[in-house]
Amino acid sequence: MSLLKVQSLNLSFGGVNAIDALSLTIEPGPIHSIIGPNGAGKTTLFNLITGVYVPSDGQILFEDKEIAGKKPWTLAAMGLARTFQNLQIFFNMTAIDNIMVGMHLNSDTRFLPSLLRLKSIIRGDNENREKSAELLKFVGLGDYIGADTDSMPYGALKRLEIARSLATQPKILLLDEPAAGLNPAETGELDGLIQKIAASGVTVVLVEHDMKLVMGVSDHIIVLESGKLLCEGSADEIRHNPDVIAAYLGESGRNL
Ligand SMILES: Nc1ncnc2c1ncn2[C@@H]1O[C@H](COP(=O)(O)OP(=O)(O)O)[C@@H](O)[C@H]1O
Ligand SMILES: [Mg+2]
Repeated sequence: MSLLKVQSLNLSFGGVNAIDALSLTIEPGPIHSIIGPNGAGKTTLFNLITGVYVPSDGQILFEDKEIAGKKPWTLAAMGLARTFQNLQIFFNMTAIDNIMVGMHLNSDTRFLPSLLRLKSIIRGDNENREKSAELLKFVGLGDYIGADTDSMPYGALKRLEIARSLATQPKILLLDEPAAGLNPAETGELDGLIQKIAASGVTVVLVEHDMKLVMGVSDHIIVLESGKLLCEGSADEIRHNPDVIAAYLGESGRNL
């Protein structure tokens, strides 16, 4: 059984076919990356898989079950989690409270909690607080557990978002440009974190423009262009593929 399968998927915005008859399969286990030029449809694909958009046509199967059109919180409960291209952090809150609120937003809450409810979530039970602290340590934020998010560096906030997405114990984690805005040292640490997440049994799907990161961590790379599958393969196959070089990597891609 494949973990995630997309079949003949379509979504257009006005006249633009953002996703165009796209079929692909994500097998459980390894680290997958989805690459391609800006506007290729990578984020739209994540939005379709996570229930933000409903496809106009085609199927999305998660563990052989049709999930197209299901609500994001239902999908989170089934084991799908994601991070966003633009940071989605609650500011004016501590790092650990972000995780605790995220646990609830992603699982059993169908609407933004009222202020009263928010307070009760943050007070939380000790078990959730402990789990949240463990997650922060797992992503390398052990020093920031009680820190206010307003005072945290950008790289730490990106990790915080990853920790929050792991709070629902997903089977698959979709990361949308996690290295964007990170310095080389932070990107190196992210490489290690992605491998650690995969080793913990979570299937990772990475959308990323940092080709050093992509080529280094990926077992399987999918290339999109104009909403279509251009090709897929191992890092070695992709960096030498003439179509990928022409559409995205350029000649220097061979040296990645
Ligand atoms: N909400 C939207 N409304 C209109 N057009 C959109 C919307 N989201 C994406 N698009 C268009 O769909 C195409 C794919 O965009 P996107 O999925 O964001 O690409 P990528 O993440 O690969 O850069 C682009 O042409 C983009 O302009
Ligand atoms: Mg995008």
